[in-house]
Amino acid sequence: MLMTITIIGHGYVGLVSACVFADFGNKVWVIGHTPEKLARLRSGDPILYEPGLKEMLEKNLKAKRLIFTDTYKDSVPESQIVFITVGTPPKENGAADLTAVYHVAEQIAKHLKPGFNVVSCKSTVPVGTNKKVEEIVNKNKKANSHIAVASCPEFLREGSALGDTLHPDRVIVGSSSKEAVDTMLELHKPISGDRVVTDLASAELIKYTSNSMLATKISFANLISFYCEKTGADVETVLDAVGLDKRIGRSFMYPGVGYGGSCFPKDVQALMDTGKNLEIDTSLLQAVENINQQARENFLKNILKHIKGKTIGVWGLSFKPDTDDVRFAPSVYVLRELIKKGFTLKVYDQVAMENIKKILGNKLTYVNNPYEAVENVDALCIFTEWNEFKQIDLSKVKKLMKKHLIFDGRNIFEPKKMKKAGFEYYGIGRS
Ligand code: UGA
Repeated sequence: MLMTITIIGHGYVGLVSACVFADFGNKVWVIGHTPEKLARLRSGDPILYEPGLKEMLEKNLKAKRLIFTDTYKDSVPESQIVFITVGTPPKENGAADLTAVYHVAEQIAKHLKPGFNVVSCKSTVPVGTNKKVEEIVNKNKKANSHIAVASCPEFLREGSALGDTLHPDRVIVGSSSKEAVDTMLELHKPISGDRVVTDLASAELIKYTSNSMLATKISFANLISFYCEKTGADVETVLDAVGLDKRIGRSFMYPGVGYGGSCFPKDVQALMDTGKNLEIDTSLLQAVENINQQARENFLKNILKHIKGKTIGVWGLSFKPDTDDVRFAPSVYVLRELIKKGFTLKVYDQVAMENIKKILGNKLTYVNNPYEAVENVDALCIFTEWNEFKQIDLSKVKKLMKKHLIFDGRNIFEPKKMKKAGFEYYGIGRS
C-alpha cells in the first residue's frame, strides 16, 4: 500500500530515506527550515555528496513524489507516518542534544490530522527519547487524533547510503502499538533484511549497541596495531589470521588513524552518558574513545619523528571514502597540529576540499590532483583510502617528491612493495 509520509530533516538519514521511500512510489514531504537549502534541494542538488543520490533525487522530484517545504500545515495532516530525522549533536558533556527532536515533536502534534498517525524517530536517540516524544505529542495534539510512536533506527553508512537503506541486514521496529508496527512494516515492505519487532527501549539501544560495538572493534584493531609497532609484528597478518575465526570475523577490524564522522564519536559518548546516568561502569567505552584519540596522536608523533623538512603532501581529507563529510575526521586533528608546528600542507581530496576549507581555510594549500599534492614535498600523508590512491603511478609520485617518505594512515600500500619502490614507508602497525 502506498502512503504519504513526512520526513523532518534532510541530512543523510532524512534525505536518503525520503528518496528511497519516494522511489517506491510513496508521496514524501520533506520539511527543512533553511530557505537556501530547500531551494537547492528543489533544484535537484542533494547538498551533500553521496553516490547515486543526486540521480534518485532528480528522478523523484520529476515524478512529483518528493516535495520540499518549510511548513507543517500541508505535509503533516495528510501523512500516515511522520519521521523525525533532525540532528542530535553532542553537548559538551557528551550527551546527545535533543532540543531539535523535542521541538519538532511539538510542531508535529499541533498539525496532526484526526485519526491514527505514527510518529517515528529515525535520528539516533538515547533510550527513553521516543517515550518522551510520545508524551510531548500526546500533550500537544488535538483530542480527535490518536498517535503511536515507533522507533525505527537507520543503519546506513555514508558513502554507501542508498545500498545500505535498500538492503540492510535488518529492519528494526520498536513500538508497543500493533497498529504502528503494522504500518511501519508495510512501508518497509520493499526493503530486504530480517525484521526485528520489539519495544521502544530495545530499538533505541540496538542502534547504540551496533555503533559502539563497531567502534570497539576498530579501537581493538588499533590497540593491537600499537603492540605490533613496538614488537615488529605485522598487524594486517595478525588480524587476517584472527579474523579467520568465524566467531570474530575480519570486518570492521581495519586499523588506521581512527574512526571519525558524525556517528561513532558521538554515539560512543552518548552511550557513556546514558550509562553514567544509570550508574553503569562505562570504562570499556571510555577506553574505546581513548584508543581512538591515541591512534591519531601516534600517527602525528610518527610524522614528527621521521620527517626532515617542512612541506607535506596530503591525500584524502574526508573521514572515509565516497563522502565529502569531514566531521570529526582524523585529518582535521592531525592537520591542525601540523599547522601549529609551522608545516606547509598541500592537500587533495576528490570531494571534501570545500568542507575542509570551512574549517581550516587558507591555512592549507589546495591542489587539483594527487600528483600536484606531492610535488616537491618532504613527505606524503594519507588519511582516506579513496580508490584513486590505491592504483596511483608510484614511479611518477617518486619523481615528484623531494624526499621519499610516506605515512599511510589507512594501510593502502604493502610495506615490502613500497620499500622496493624506493620509499621510506610507515603504515599503521606494520614493520
Ligand atoms: C556508521 C555505521 O557503520 C552505520 O551502520 C550507521 O548507520 C552510521 O554510523 C550512523 O549511525 O548513522 P558511518 O559513520 O557512515 O556509518 O561510516 P563507517 O563505514 O561505519 O565508518 C566510520 C569510521 O570508522 C570511518 O572513519 C572509518 O574510516 C572508520 N573505520 C571503519 C575504521 O577505522 N576501521 C574499520 O575497520 C572500519
